[in-house]
Amino acid sequence: MKVLLATEKPFAKIAVDDIRRVIESAGYELILLEKYTDKAQLLDAVKDANAIIIRSDIIDKEVFDAAKELKIVVRAGAGYDNVDLEAATEHGVCVMNTPGQNSNAVAELVLGMFVYAVRNFFNGTSGTELRGKKLGIHAYGNVGRNVARIAKGFGMDVYAYDAFCPNEVMEADGVKPIASAKELYEACSLISLHLPATPETKNSINYDLLKDMPKNAVLVNTARKEVINESELIRLMDERNDFKYITDIMPAAHMKFVELFPTRYFSTPKKMGAQTAEANINAGIAAAEQIVDFFTNGCEKFRVNK
Ligand code: 3PG
Repeated sequence: MKVLLATEKPFAKIAVDDIRRVIESAGYELILLEKYTDKAQLLDAVKDANAIIIRSDIIDKEVFDAAKELKIVVRAGAGYDNVDLEAATEHGVCVMNTPGQNSNAVAELVLGMFVYAVRNFFNGTSGTELRGKKLGIHAYGNVGRNVARIAKGFGMDVYAYDAFCPNEVMEADGVKPIASAKELYEACSLISLHLPATPETKNSINYDLLKDMPKNAVLVNTARKEVINESELIRLMDERNDFKYITDIMPAAHMKFVELFPTRYFSTPKKMGAQTAEANINAGIAAAEQIVDFFTNGCEKFRVNK
């Protein structure tokens, strides 16, 4: 059985060693394709793979067409918008994710980004504190819950909106449920996004939603760049010089943000919420174990395609 680990943005070495241990203990072979720069390299590597572990790597119809022996793709992470699920199903391939495994890493980065923003990007001027401020968590899944837990340690007042999460779940965490996104943005000067990129959420963070955020607003996005309506965010930041945008997913209009808002915009060069040794180990081992469980027991617990 050949398991391909295809990561354009590689895991920490310690995580790769752990993945290898799980795969080889099952008697399978691990093939590594890291830091590839060309899709052709991926198309070549998938030819005889029975399983693939990926991160944000794009697995589209062309990849499935090339992967004649493929039975399973595991996205070592939460969001699977990078995998063409329909093509997977057409090719009889099971797609899974590893929910929750990297969420603490992302949540820690979120709080780091809020500190960076309210301390004026560490430029030496007097900023503000997080204690006592209202934090709005937009979508209350695994990452949102971890953000709430850490934010409470900072003494923040935590609110959340999630159309699919029961109020009792938030209340049990000491988080105040809010009935709509609009009310969340009106109430909270600090907002953290945790929405998946779906047809419904794409471009949904728009001018109308953001314009009513209280003074000294900070928007942190560690979710997906697609959920932001970039031209409307630019318009809003142009109108409001108290508004900051911090993200680890570089917007398509990155250079425009840099030019227009040099002191109120920051993006990491690569998505780095899940870039910790711990998150790599957790998600990597989970992915490898899910593959072994799939082949040995037919387990499809984390399947995301029909
Ligand atoms: C996820 O969906 O799990 C995160 O966005 C992390 O993505 P990455 O594995 O590409 O860093």
